[in-house]
Amino acid sequence: MDNSGIYVGLDIGTTSIKVIVAERVKGQMNVIGVGSERSNGLSRGVIVDIDKAASAIQSAVRQAEEKASIEIKKIIAGVPANLVKIERCRGMIAVADESKEINNEDVQNVAAAALVQSLPPEREVLDVIPDEFVVDGFDGIKDPRGMVGVRLEMHGTLFTGPKTIIHNTRKAIEKAGLQIEQIVIAPLALSSLVLNDGEQDFGSIIVDMGGGQTTAAVIHDHQLKYTYVDQEGGQYITKDISVVLNTSIENAEKLKRDYGNADADQTSDEDEFPVEVVGQSTPTQISEQYLAEIIEARLDQIFDKLKQHLDDIHALDLPGGVVLTGGVAALPGITDLASQLFGTRVRVFTPNQMGLRHPSFDEALAVIKYQAALSEVALLVKSALTGDTRASVALDFSEPAPSQPATGSQAAPAQPAPTKTTKKQPAKQQHPDQESGLSRFKNFFNHFFD
Ligand SMILES: Nc1ncnc2c1ncn2[C@@H]1O[C@H](COP(=O)(O)OP(=O)(O)OP(=O)(O)O)[C@@H](O)[C@H]1O
Ligand SMILES: [Mg+2]
Repeated sequence: MDNSGIYVGLDIGTTSIKVIVAERVKGQMNVIGVGSERSNGLSRGVIVDIDKAASAIQSAVRQAEEKASIEIKKIIAGVPANLVKIERCRGMIAVADESKEINNEDVQNVAAAALVQSLPPEREVLDVIPDEFVVDGFDGIKDPRGMVGVRLEMHGTLFTGPKTIIHNTRKAIEKAGLQIEQIVIAPLALSSLVLNDGEQDFGSIIVDMGGGQTTAAVIHDHQLKYTYVDQEGGQYITKDISVVLNTSIENAEKLKRDYGNADADQTSDEDEFPVEVVGQSTPTQISEQYLAEIIEARLDQIFDKLKQHLDDIHALDLPGGVVLTGGVAALPGITDLASQLFGTRVRVFTPNQMGLRHPSFDEALAVIKYQAALSEVALLVKSALTGDTRASVALDFSEPAPSQPATGSQAAPAQPAPTKTTKKQPAKQQHPDQESGLSRFKNFFNHFFD
């Protein structure tokens, strides 16, 4: 893909669908249209009714089309990190013609070899990212094209997800009359937008606070290492307000946005606002402090769960701290509450483009930024996911997920003699995370966060 032209980012959120149209001119990305529509057919981050979701997507896309004065055909969509598993993968091929330079096809073939995995029937490969290539034992190569060698290896990161989530996302987008240019795991995309280079390198946590769910993602060494999804989000806060104050969901949502604060210490019990209470003819006066206490109680619970999981892998020690994204991050006082609870530096990422100054636009913007920044090699590797590029020369020595990532500094370990078969998969290929995921990641991080 060239690096100019129109990019359309789509975020299918539980509470709203966001569409951003951006035009890349001379390396500069300009937002030329935005659409945002109330969502339908989603529950806790995932599509549960394809038709309803498709028509909500269509409305959001129409809005963006009108603003941008273009017809939208292709989109880049984010998918939630629910049940996503992160694994290492390796592929090796004998280079087709030793006397020739390694070309695009060789890269696609080695990627296809790395994708030979036995997955449980309910899972599917969502994404594959090359970490390094190895040519005849020389490792740490980012782009092997143009080099000469007999043996080409790729060490990469493989993301798998539940087939239903991926299928429903694809189907809803297609039913909305759109083509999918790329599907990106949301936290991976977010990392390219909300973290700077140093934060991605030394390590940071992204917490996406959506309406339907809250997702924590750990980025380290420029890689997505861990995700945790807590299925509570802004809708729960609204519901709490509605129940405690005995007011409708609509009122509660408005009160939250107009008077809400995540940190009760920052509010006063003297500042009051009127609330329409069900069954009462006159509004009741409620203090901002009381409202903040309701909000804070739910957020405490969400942050607490996140903290437990993040502590297990020592992620809160990472120097980049926490970056909050998603609509709930717009609540005043949230950085103070989060930094008290997490005990680390916290900031909110809000886009600074006109018309997008709200953290709920982060994801739609992020998928564009992520796609635009993908290298040619990364795109070639990704194309192996869809293209029928599996080479007959592919030699599979994919192995179970190791306890530490293959980094550029690690020499290619001596591999058992690869067999010619691409099918034979021992039972150990079955995803070990099911019962030992946490301990696996513990090792992962103990090694890296020292
Ligand atoms: N100013 C605000 N104060 C408090 N909450 C807000 C504010 N603005 C938006 N929200 C909340 O943010 C949530 C929506 O955020 P977002 O658009 O990121 O979610 P989503 O992408 O639709 O959902 P999800 O990511 O969970 O699927 C809603 O619950 C909304 O009430
Ligand atoms: Mg969201």
